[in-house]
Amino acid sequence: MLESVTDLAVLREQVAGWKREGLRVGFVPTMGNLHAGHHSLVRLAREHADRVVASVFVNPTQFGPNEDFARYPRTPDADRDGLAAAGADLMWLPSVDTMYPYGAAAAVEVRVPVVTAVLEGAHRPGHFDGVATVVSRLFHQVQPDVAVFGRKDYQQLAVIRRMVRDLAFPVAVLAAPTLREADGLAMSSRNQFLSAQERPVAAGIHQVLQGVRAAIQSGRSRGEVEEEARRRLQASGFQVDYVAVRTPDLLEPDDGVGGARVALVAARLGTTRLIDNLEFDA
Ligand code: PAF
Repeated sequence: MLESVTDLAVLREQVAGWKREGLRVGFVPTMGNLHAGHHSLVRLAREHADRVVASVFVNPTQFGPNEDFARYPRTPDADRDGLAAAGADLMWLPSVDTMYPYGAAAAVEVRVPVVTAVLEGAHRPGHFDGVATVVSRLFHQVQPDVAVFGRKDYQQLAVIRRMVRDLAFPVAVLAAPTLREADGLAMSSRNQFLSAQERPVAAGIHQVLQGVRAAIQSGRSRGEVEEEARRRLQASGFQVDYVAVRTPDLLEPDDGVGGARVALVAARLGTTRLIDNLEFDA
């Protein structure tokens, strides 16, 4: 039975009660408009915890001035049904006042340096400050033992991992695999903004990432592979923010040296900005 909670004192009491019983608490933070990808995060949390809290909070501080905060879809009833079916026990629905008692502009901020300076961080200034700030607050509110984040937001996962280690949060961070549509498009709340013409084109991102993997594994130089991938995406109608092959820490790998790699793309199709990535060994 899924309980919806909007009061921080009630949330704390419930979680403290579970902990007194010796139960392990899992947590899945979300911004709502949930799809099968989010439900899989809840199921993974269930495998590692006795009780699962999922939060739904569209966080204003992680949207830039020209980004889609206002049009971000709010679907509370469907979110509730989906979370109940996926096995969550508690839906945490903080108001903006609960999250930012002094207002978002006057909030204490958490800024994670280095890993936020590149890629998404460079293209969306302040985005990861908003993410780290809200996730640190959610961790303080929920006090989970384990928290699940999707690998689709690869850099976000890296930011959270660094924050957890640097600030010694007693939370184990678990990474969940990206769920894809049949044609390879990574599931995302933003996919619904794609027009009928754009939707099949969007799957090209995954194909391009697979091409990048094959080219790097065949020994071609990173710069050349990234440039070719950018051209392929542009030829299909994308405006490309970046195509990059990086180490798992998002550093630039040396050519000719093998190891774990991640290829990352951010590109716009019409008004919809999509991100995706592919992890592999080179
Ligand atoms: O990945 C998201 O949905 C958000 O960035 C998160 C982690 C819920 C913070 O608002």
